[in-house]
Amino acid sequence: MDKEKRYYPLFHLGPMSGWLNDPNGLCQLSGVHHIFFQYSPDEPRGGRKCWGHYETRDFVSYRFTGTFLEPDAVEDRDGVYSGCAYVKDGRMYLFYTGNVKWAGAYDYVYAGREANTMLVTSCDGVLASPKECLMRNEDYPGNLSCHVRDPKVFLHQGRYYMVQGARTRDDEGCVLLFSSMDLRHWGFEKAIFKPKFGYMWECPDLFWLSGKAFLSVSPQGLAAEEFCYQNVYQSGYFSMGKWSVLDEASLEEFHEWDYGFDFYAPQTYEDEQGRRILIGWMGMPDAPYDHDPTIAEGWQHMLTIPRQLQVDDVTGRIRQTPLPEMLQLREEELFCCEMENEPLLRKMEDGYELLISDIKGETLTIIFCDGVTFTYHAAYGKCCLTFTDERVGCGRDERRMYLQSSALRTLRVFVDACSIELFCNDGEEVMTTKYFPQDEIVLRMDGSAKVCGYRLRAVDICK
Ligand code: FRU
Repeated sequence: MDKEKRYYPLFHLGPMSGWLNDPNGLCQLSGVHHIFFQYSPDEPRGGRKCWGHYETRDFVSYRFTGTFLEPDAVEDRDGVYSGCAYVKDGRMYLFYTGNVKWAGAYDYVYAGREANTMLVTSCDGVLASPKECLMRNEDYPGNLSCHVRDPKVFLHQGRYYMVQGARTRDDEGCVLLFSSMDLRHWGFEKAIFKPKFGYMWECPDLFWLSGKAFLSVSPQGLAAEEFCYQNVYQSGYFSMGKWSVLDEASLEEFHEWDYGFDFYAPQTYEDEQGRRILIGWMGMPDAPYDHDPTIAEGWQHMLTIPRQLQVDDVTGRIRQTPLPEMLQLREEELFCCEMENEPLLRKMEDGYELLISDIKGETLTIIFCDGVTFTYHAAYGKCCLTFTDERVGCGRDERRMYLQSSALRTLRVFVDACSIELFCNDGEEVMTTKYFPQDEIVLRMDGSAKVCGYRLRAVDICK
């Protein structure tokens, strides 16, 4: 580990240098999981958007193969924006948005921007076929602004479908549904809306789990409430029940994927074992906390750990649990004890996991280090993640959530060099945040529970 990079993650994927945002093109092909991402290799504050690429067979050993796509075509000259992978006949079909901004006095919302739907294919995430432009602004319905992006493709009842995120001219966020027989020629089918639910929906994803349809979107423009929508932008999913593409879409309640400070633009894929895996961007665009100390180390942002999605039979909601492969990272059991009225106090190294069960009593408090506290209040079924030291939170203050099953029974926490991911009640709710510990890390826990701590190893990354 490079000592100059105090905060570089041990087991999360970050950019080797520069900037990372959304996960892109997630898929598994011949045993290899491909993880592309929005990447500005030379600019830790973001800038010229490319696609970077990691691959792994086991989520322990990764290979970073560098920049896969650069904005070098007329149709994507201002950014190779987000997109997806569709695997067919041993190839990845990689769809993305080619961003083009015209020179001139444009607002780039209603005029001056092209959003081209682009395709390349690849067998390995290293070599790409020539870029093809499949759709341009004039191919999208007429009532839209210039904000159309982030194609996600899937097969349903023998036909290919693509969803794209969009903003109408009346500032309504929506998802556009297209269909195709050959992955190259696409026709518009319909728009999927939830009236007055934000002005733009980014990064849509439509998938089926346990026979039910779910639409994941990252809406912009929702008003903050005390226990939800606390970030600048949100991401979550609508249940669509037994919906099939021919039906009118009825979007049920919106559930946020994550209640922490740093989670946005997730994407899911089905792996070769049939597992639905979600990876999110551990970051937040346009957040007031945009001066992370990692910028001085020449890099910024990470992807979350991969999470497996499952539908809870009782609530019908999606639970997110760390992929079982994450167990391979456990290197050593640090402690395992019943915590009664005696608080637990431990000096910790970067990279550990906590498993907390049998939670009883009125409150549970975890101080991850001086300056950041997680608190659970049984009386209200409420959890808070609070930063009290500006250096540790770096502009982050507090996030709150109510637990859907009101009592906290279990907690599983992954702590990396500068991040905390908390999975409550087997993934019923999740809170993800970056934090920047100062000096030595002393973990303090108070409450009545069983607590086990494990030291986690770093993943191997070869170039
Ligand atoms: C989401 C997003 C996408 C876009 C990409 C550009 O974070 O704004 O809508 O394609 O980032 O980097």
